[in-house]
Amino acid sequence: MAKPIYLVGGSKGGVGKSIVTMALIDYLQQRDQTVLLVETDTTNPDVWMCYRDEVETATLDLDEVDGWIALINDCESQPDHPVIINTAARNNHGVSVHGVTLDSTLTELQRQLVTLWVINRQRDSLELLKPFLEALPNAAVHVVRNLYFGESSKFELYNHSHLRETLERAGGQTLDFPDVADRISDDLFGQRLSIARAARDLPLGNRAELARWRNACARMFARISQEPASASAPA
Ligand SMILES: Nc1ncnc2c1ncn2[C@@H]1O[C@H](COP(=O)(O)OP(=O)(O)OP(=O)(O)O)[C@@H](O)[C@H]1O
Ligand SMILES: [Mg+2]
Repeated sequence: MAKPIYLVGGSKGGVGKSIVTMALIDYLQQRDQTVLLVETDTTNPDVWMCYRDEVETATLDLDEVDGWIALINDCESQPDHPVIINTAARNNHGVSVHGVTLDSTLTELQRQLVTLWVINRQRDSLELLKPFLEALPNAAVHVVRNLYFGESSKFELYNHSHLRETLERAGGQTLDFPDVADRISDDLFGQRLSIARAARDLPLGNRAELARWRNACARMFARISQEPASASAPA
């Protein structure tokens, strides 16, 4: 089996797709994986800006069929690299129209498509998941409750939903993404820092909070990843 394709979605703006993407890159890097970041947010390529000097990147427009073709070709040419796709809020339409093309190649690529669907506490986060599941029926889908928006018990609409039942019956998991102090996320996005770089360069107090969050992220990703639980080379 080649390495997975991770698609960080959620469709909705501002739910935390970029920060989850960064945490996932960081998690895999710490486990000696050479990742390929596919940045599809062409208007605000924030993850690309933080990671362009550290990992291999491709910027693709998933609103257009050409973007999907290039994505599939990149996945084929680098089977040893996990591919991490940071999606933009507006990609929902492109996924519904063209997602089937990627879905149809997964067997030949010998890759698993793992979706992390990031949600806040509102209804449209969930509504948008339905067309996605139809467009990519072969994806493993996990829902990520972003605890930045409140503790897990507060995600009532999702917690008691039929969608959750269906998803978990299909093997999907409900994951909790930890909150980090605002000043740390401001450091990352404001100074365009990768998490590894922030862990080297920030002042001690900031680094201590970052380390706590990184460990909590690692516990979350360990639930869905095929990588060994302990990091071989913590940065
Ligand atoms: N778990 C978290 N801990 C701390 N801050 C967070 C967390 N999740 C989100 N944020 C804050 O919310 C902001 C928006 O998050 P992010 O940019 O990751 O969302 P997005 O879904 O990628 O947005 P867009 O749709 O605009 O691309 C971040 O800049 C950060 O300040
Ligand atoms: Mg984003």
